[in-house]
Amino acid sequence: MKKYEAVRAILGNKLYVPPKYASAKAYAPTNIALCKYWGKRNQELNLPMTSSLSISLGSKGATTELMVSTHAHDLVFLNNHPVDLTTSFGRRLIEFLDLFRAHGMPRFIVNIESNIPIAAGLASSACGFAALAIVLDQLFDWELPEYQLSILARLGSGSASRSIWQGFVEWHAGFRADGMDSFAEPISESWPELCIGLLIVSEKEKMISSRDAMQRTVTTSPLYSAWPSKVSRDLSLVKQAISVQDFSLLGRTAESNAMTMHATMLSAWPTISYMLPETLLAMQKIWQLRRDGLSLYFTQDAGPNLKLLFLKQDADIISQEFAGVDVLQPFLE
Ligand code: DP6
Repeated sequence: MKKYEAVRAILGNKLYVPPKYASAKAYAPTNIALCKYWGKRNQELNLPMTSSLSISLGSKGATTELMVSTHAHDLVFLNNHPVDLTTSFGRRLIEFLDLFRAHGMPRFIVNIESNIPIAAGLASSACGFAALAIVLDQLFDWELPEYQLSILARLGSGSASRSIWQGFVEWHAGFRADGMDSFAEPISESWPELCIGLLIVSEKEKMISSRDAMQRTVTTSPLYSAWPSKVSRDLSLVKQAISVQDFSLLGRTAESNAMTMHATMLSAWPTISYMLPETLLAMQKIWQLRRDGLSLYFTQDAGPNLKLLFLKQDADIISQEFAGVDVLQPFLE
């Protein structure tokens, strides 16, 4: 099945109805996975090998405005700067919009305002495609249920399926070949004391996209076969930790999940490593602080920077130990 067929299956005849409004605007938060999505069973539809679980970052995300345009081409702006539509970001965005214009019409002016620290390597595609799915729904007045918006966002980027909601979110891998059971859903549990610290150790560009890296891992890593069972164990532990608010269980499961994901990448060929010397130094500092009694954990995505996990009561000490760390309280943002 192709992406446009999945879109047609969801929208049916609505696909041929022009926009109801001249413009619309929507926001979606970015998210950080505590139990990661790494590897696809279907690359065209971004169908994952496993389920995953994330936390959305409140007011950190993307606001996207879509305006119907009379220009011959789409125009895209990111934080008021024109986006080059020949870059991979530009092409992915236009390809996504094209899925919803049966006859190439209408053209759009797209204004994306992102308040995510760009260098933090915080899945900007996640909030970007989620905000696009929501704003398209508003512009065309489709009134789709959120689980279908999650499916549409997934067609742009897998992790975007989780950015439709705030709080803890689980993306069900699903079984179906058409992906209609592969969508995210919120977990109705709140944890106001939970903090995330964005620790930038390097602003260097990442060497390989998460898209290419996960595919190389699936096809070449001898350790990848252990990943699905690791995820299924970690998923139930993270859910248990959330339901009884056991922070240590949450932290160690998330950290171990991230380290295992990176281990599968290290064993891919050619090897993929997102760790820089500064990343390892930061990890060693975290492990030492933990040995000294601090309840501090981390997770790491497809980039060298770390996301620290801790509780509000330790926020001051963590800000002292890690100069420049950006502390967020996802449930209070
Ligand atoms: C390490 O969602 O960016 O952040 O589906 O190819 O667009 P595509 O990949 P993407 O991968 C995110 C990988 C991750 C883990 C996660 O967010 O679960």
